Amino acid sequence: MSISEAQASPEKTEKTEKTHKTYIEGFDKYLGGGIPSGHIVLISGAPGTMKSTLAFSMLYNNAKEDLAAGLYVTLEQSRSSLIRQMEKLGMFVGREFGVEILDLSVFRQGEEDWMGDFGEDGRRESPWFKKFRNILETQKKVIDYDLVVIDSLPLVEIVCGIKNSRYGLFRLFNWLRDLGTTTFIISENPPDEKVVRECDFMADGILHLFLEKSPELSVSRVLRCAKMREVNHDTGYHVLEYKDRKFWSSPKRYDVGRVLSQL
Ligand SMILES: Nc1ncnc2c1ncn2[C@@H]1O[C@H](COP(=O)(O)OP(=O)(O)OP(=O)(O)O)[C@@H](O)[C@H]1O
Ligand SMILES: [Mg+2]
Repeated sequence: MSISEAQASPEKTEKTEKTHKTYIEGFDKYLGGGIPSGHIVLISGAPGTMKSTLAFSMLYNNAKEDLAAGLYVTLEQSRSSLIRQMEKLGMFVGREFGVEILDLSVFRQGEEDWMGDFGEDGRRESPWFKKFRNILETQKKVIDYDLVVIDSLPLVEIVCGIKNSRYGLFRLFNWLRDLGTTTFIISENPPDEKVVRECDFMADGILHLFLEKSPELSVSRVLRCAKMREVNHDTGYHVLEYKDRKFWSSPKRYDVGRVLSQL
C-alpha cells in the first residue's frame, strides 16, 4: 500500500504504535522493541560512519513496514547526492515510498546576516530559527510526517544562531517535542568521549556509531545505544553491517584475554 493510500485509511488516524523499530536486523530486541514514539534521538558518529544512511533507513523502513511517513531534512548533503546514495543501497525517495527529502542547504549558502544570536539572556532570536521552524511546521501539515531526521545539529546550530547558546538549544528541543514527531538528529562525535555535551543531556536517546580497528587492522562498524529513556536497553557494542538492502547487527564479542592484557 502506498503512503497516500495509507493516509486515507482509518488505521492511519489511530496511532496504536508506541514504538518505532530501528529495522536494524537483530538490534530492536536489545531496545525492548524499538524507539518510543515522540523521542528525540541523537545519532552521533565520526565522518563516514553511516549516520545519514542509518537515519534514512529508519525512515524508509518505518514508512515501508509501518506506514509511518518520514521527512529527511538535510542542511549538509544535497538532495540529489542523498538520493543517489540511498538508491545505490536499495532505498528510494518520494511520496509513494513515504519518505521525502527537504533540502535546506540553501540556508547555509547565504550571507552572514542569517546568523542570529540568542545572547546570554536569550532575548534575541535569529529570524532563521523562526524560518526553520515555520518550514518544518508547514511540511508537517502537508506531509503529516511521523518521523523526521535533521542532518545535522551543528549546522542547525550555526544557521539558527544557537551555537554555544544553552537557551537556544533548549528552545530547539522544546519546539521539536511540541512538533509531536519522533526525531533523529545527526550530530558529531565529541572530540573526547569523556566530554559530555548539552545535547546529550537534552536528548531522549543516543545512538553512537563508530569504526573500530582490530589488532589485525581490519575495521568494523560498531553501534551502541548509549541512552534511551523509558527503555531497559542493552548498552553493549554491536557490529553493524549493511548488506542485502538492510542493516544487520550482532553483539560484539571481545577477546577478554586480549582486552585485559591491554589494561
Ligand atoms: N554497503 C555498504 N557497507 C558499508 N559501508 C558502506 C556501504 N555503502 C556505502 N558505505 C560507506 O558509507 C559511508 C557513507 O555513509 P554516510 O553518508 O551515511 O555516512 P555519514 O556518517 O553520514 O558521513 P558524513 O559524516 O560525511 O555525513 C561511506 O564511507 C561509504 O563508503
Ligand atoms: Mg551524513
